[in-house]
Amino acid sequence: MKFFIDTANLEEIQEGLDLGLVDGVTTNPSLAAKEGKPFGETAGDICKMVGDLPVSLEVVGLKAEEMVREADQLMKYGDNVVIKLPLIDEGLKACRILSQKGIKVNQTLVFNPLQALLAAKAGATYVSPFVGRLDDIAVPGMECIEQIVTIYSNYGFETEILVASVRNPIHVLEAALYGADVATMPFKVIKGLAKHPLTDIGLEKFLADWKKLQG
Ligand code: G3P
Repeated sequence: MKFFIDTANLEEIQEGLDLGLVDGVTTNPSLAAKEGKPFGETAGDICKMVGDLPVSLEVVGLKAEEMVREADQLMKYGDNVVIKLPLIDEGLKACRILSQKGIKVNQTLVFNPLQALLAAKAGATYVSPFVGRLDDIAVPGMECIEQIVTIYSNYGFETEILVASVRNPIHVLEAALYGADVATMPFKVIKGLAKHPLTDIGLEKFLADWKKLQG
């Protein structure tokens, strides 16, 4: 299972890389806007700092032709760029065009398994179902993941299931139990994964007892 970091913040990406827990980066226009600098600068810096790890950069055009044109520009930031397209009819059209050219696509803003089926048929490399935003409206997000896993395995689709809108470690655990290929998560979720109070209490006790051994 791969872990991606869902941020456009360079310090967070670097810390995640240092922890050895980052296999890729996903961004979106909202995350890029938080950085308060031109998008091109942020995108270029991220693509450079992660070497050959995949970096999803999102288009903002609403027509397939515009999306394809934007993709051409975004690809200039690095060979590791994955084009993030919204799961709308025009996004699916653009996905087909880009995938046929060998460009990797991440179909985003996916909220049901049928949309994920369409993404796979359009040749997407990744599909991003948003579990947290479904939970927010009292629809269990993880049921969507379970159903996508079943559909993809029924037909042998190779599109990777990239669980997005992850808000807590339970989302990561459930994504792993259902066999999702990737979970993309904010830095604070990555930082929370190793935490357990019994680990801290146990360590404190071991160190205290070790001290007693030293004359
Ligand atoms: O990158 C998309 C995504 O992960 C959004 O998360 O928390 O804004 O729903 P959130």
